Amino acid sequence: MATRSPSRTTSRSSNSSSSRAKSASSTGSNGNSNTQSRRTVAKSDEREQSAFAFGRKSNSGRDSNGAFFGTLLAGAAIGLAANYGRKLLMQGLEAQAGDWDEILATEHDAALAIFDRMLATDSTQTFKRKMLLMKLTHALDKHAHQEEMVVYPALRQANERHDADLLETEHGEVKTYLYALDQMGADSPLWLDKVREFRSFISKHMHMEEEQVFPRFKQDLTEEQNDKITSLVNRDGFWMA
Ligand SMILES: [Fe+2]
Ligand SMILES: [Fe+2]
Repeated sequence: MATRSPSRTTSRSSNSSSSRAKSASSTGSNGNSNTQSRRTVAKSDEREQSAFAFGRKSNSGRDSNGAFFGTLLAGAAIGLAANYGRKLLMQGLEAQAGDWDEILATEHDAALAIFDRMLATDSTQTFKRKMLLMKLTHALDKHAHQEEMVVYPALRQANERHDADLLETEHGEVKTYLYALDQMGADSPLWLDKVREFRSFISKHMHMEEEQVFPRFKQDLTEEQNDKITSLVNRDGFWMA
């Protein structure tokens, strides 16, 4: 009256015992066979350990987690190195633009070029619009950080607080435009009008910086002060790239 399951279990168990017993019986008669048998048992035991058995050591004495985390760390290190290289490349290219004001003007041009690509899309190109909006958001975020963390504070120290505060308030408006575009949806019939309005707003902001505020501030800087601001803008841009 025994059920199938227990008899199968019993059978598997007894087969296993019998197999091991066979291996054991061959120990005395054949050394090679014995070694082979131990290898087989060891391999079997390793297989029995779950792949998720963190912290256990294999029979070889090596910590399987060590290999796993070693691979993980190696991957992370490669990722970090690649990201570091990308940042160096990006900011290195910008640093070639010259002084801090020339770097920022180059970034203005790059952002306006993204606006122009956005304006050249139609409502069926939703994926392209989303990608371009993402690119614009990243570019403006990095640019605003450089100005807000280096240039505007330097302006305030040089008694140009009024302009610095006005420009920083306008950065808040820039974020509002980015938020509105993101919420609107890339297929909205109002999308192009909003981009056009945004471009007009930001180009006035850029014009004020490039034509009025930055030149007036720069002309009173010593060479050492100018170099210092350039270095700080580059450093900030590197971390934000
Ligand atoms: Fe700005
Ligand atoms: Fe700017």
